[in-house]
Amino acid sequence: MMSQNAADTFVLKNKHGIEITFTAHGGRITSIKWPSPDGEIVDVVVGFDTIEETLKGDLYFGALCGRYANRVHKGRFAIDGEFFQLDTNNGENHLHGGFEGFNTRIWDVEPFTSGNLNAFRLSLTSPDGDQKYPGMLNVSVIYSLSETNEFRIEYEATTSKATIINLTSHSYFNLKGAGKSNILDHLLTVYADQYTPINAEIGTTDGTIDNVNDTPFDFTRPKPIAEAVNSMFGQIRLVDGLDHNFILRKDGSQITHAATLLDPGSGRQLDVYTDQPGLQVYTGNHFDGSMTGKNETRINQYAGVALETQIFPNSPKVAHFPNAILRPGETYQHTCVYKFSGIR
Ligand code: GAL
Repeated sequence: MMSQNAADTFVLKNKHGIEITFTAHGGRITSIKWPSPDGEIVDVVVGFDTIEETLKGDLYFGALCGRYANRVHKGRFAIDGEFFQLDTNNGENHLHGGFEGFNTRIWDVEPFTSGNLNAFRLSLTSPDGDQKYPGMLNVSVIYSLSETNEFRIEYEATTSKATIINLTSHSYFNLKGAGKSNILDHLLTVYADQYTPINAEIGTTDGTIDNVNDTPFDFTRPKPIAEAVNSMFGQIRLVDGLDHNFILRKDGSQITHAATLLDPGSGRQLDVYTDQPGLQVYTGNHFDGSMTGKNETRINQYAGVALETQIFPNSPKVAHFPNAILRPGETYQHTCVYKFSGIR
């Protein structure tokens, strides 16, 4: 296995001119260059111009998050009657794997050949007790770009002891181009009839499932993100926008359509497909202009939207939520596809 430096970057390209750059550090996607029909090439992920700024900046931008992406209430969970206490790095909760989640690790990256695909395999061994999680976890993530403009992320993991797992990828998309105002006029469709509201007392989900019908969470038909984000609905105001898990319409463990994001101005469209049961939609509510991003532009509120395929937040604490436990002998598997349409 090759060992990498934090600053090492890799590029996936296809014949249509799409270029996806990522770093060994956090497996972070730092740019997705999208050639438009009018010849313009736009970079559709929020981030920074240089690797130095990337390494100093918001560590979740484009990153692989784990071992448990999203929140675990109070960082506590039990498996087979044994209790574990993770770091609480987000108020009283555990977020995105703790203080040194997978987004801060230097991944081993090697070219990977799969048919005609342009691909890399990223791998990481997380020792037993890493961030206080039980079991040694071996993780492999394949990034590939097809000639049909699909960027595919395929996760696999095995463990030496029963543990919890929920991996995801954390790019903030702005289909107008990073730094171009915000995503409020993007049309979003989420193929979900239900979502999991946040319990304000605990700062994450508590097992409640609500219908999206008659709420700002109804994205079953394309709708400007602004319509939800500007609503006075309690769940929206609680987090100043969208930061919620949608329960995807599922047909077993098949890969299904999770979401469509469209920039009506340019016609650039991103479709998300996954075998996971949930999609966290986060509209960058906490961005406040204090970071300077690509092309010397301020990263303001709603600068981008993250569409994170995963199981549900706080699943280790809620019996009727999807299983978060991985046992020795089992393989965690997760596929996420981002498909780009409106390419030159
Ligand atoms: C999201 C999460 C947000 C915020 C963000 C990282 O996945 O839902 O609440 O923590 O990550 O800044």
